[in-house]
Amino acid sequence: MKRIAIAATALAVVMTAAQVMAVPAGKTLEWPTSMGKVTFKGADHAGKGLKCNECHTKIFKMKKGAASMKMADINAGKYCGECHNGKKAFKPAGNCAKCHKK
Ligand code: HEC
Ligand code: HEC
Ligand code: HEC
Repeated sequence: MKRIAIAATALAVVMTAAQVMAVPAGKTLEWPTSMGKVTFKGADHAGKGLKCNECHTKIFKMKKGAASMKMADINAGKYCGECHNGKKAFKPAGNCAKCHKK
């Protein structure tokens, strides 16, 4: 019984740490491209009420650089394009500069 309680406490600590780390709030990921760097801010996403499991791990692994994304994939509705399709979030066309910063 005691052992289960300890395990449960340890799990709770791990889960709390996962909530505060990473891409959510605070962290910004960048990918250099010929169009300027793509900037992904955790705060832009966490602030819209997106939960970790809406991206991890069905769209993205929890590792920067794991996905080898091409713009054509995004335009075809993959990776960022799973949401940035003009339905869940702004679409790429006409919005290049929202993601690509000089
Ligand atoms: C809107 C999508 C999205 C949401 C929501 C999201 N992430 Fe991520 N996360 C990403 C992307 C994109 C990457 C980079 C993946 C890649 O480069 O292949 C990433 C990477 C990570 C990494 C690795 C960072 C590094 O430097 O290697 C961790 C850890 C992570 N996310 C944790 C979380 C946690 C915890 C949550 C929820 C609190 C969360 N993410 C929510 C999109 C998201
Ligand atoms: C929702 C965010 C987003 C928007 C909007 C966006 N891009 Fe991208 N773009 C990316 C990401 C992510 C990559 C891949 C970065 C990496 O992994 O190296 C990329 C890569 C690229 C590349 C590098 C070559 C390639 O084929 O992957 C070019 C060029 C590019 N985008 C052009 C554009 C143009 C032009 C627009 C506007 C019509 C645009 N992008 C809008 C996110 C975006
Ligand atoms: C699970 C859905 C989801 C995924 C996947 C996702 N986004 Fe978003 N993103 C959103 C939503 C929702 C917003 C806020 C609504 C809006 O701006 O249309 C947003 C907002 C943004 C903004 C803020 C734009 C501004 O000026 O306010 C940027 C930049 C952005 N996303 C880039 C990216 C990039 C780059 C990727 C891929 C690495 C990505 N997003 C993947 C859902 C997503």
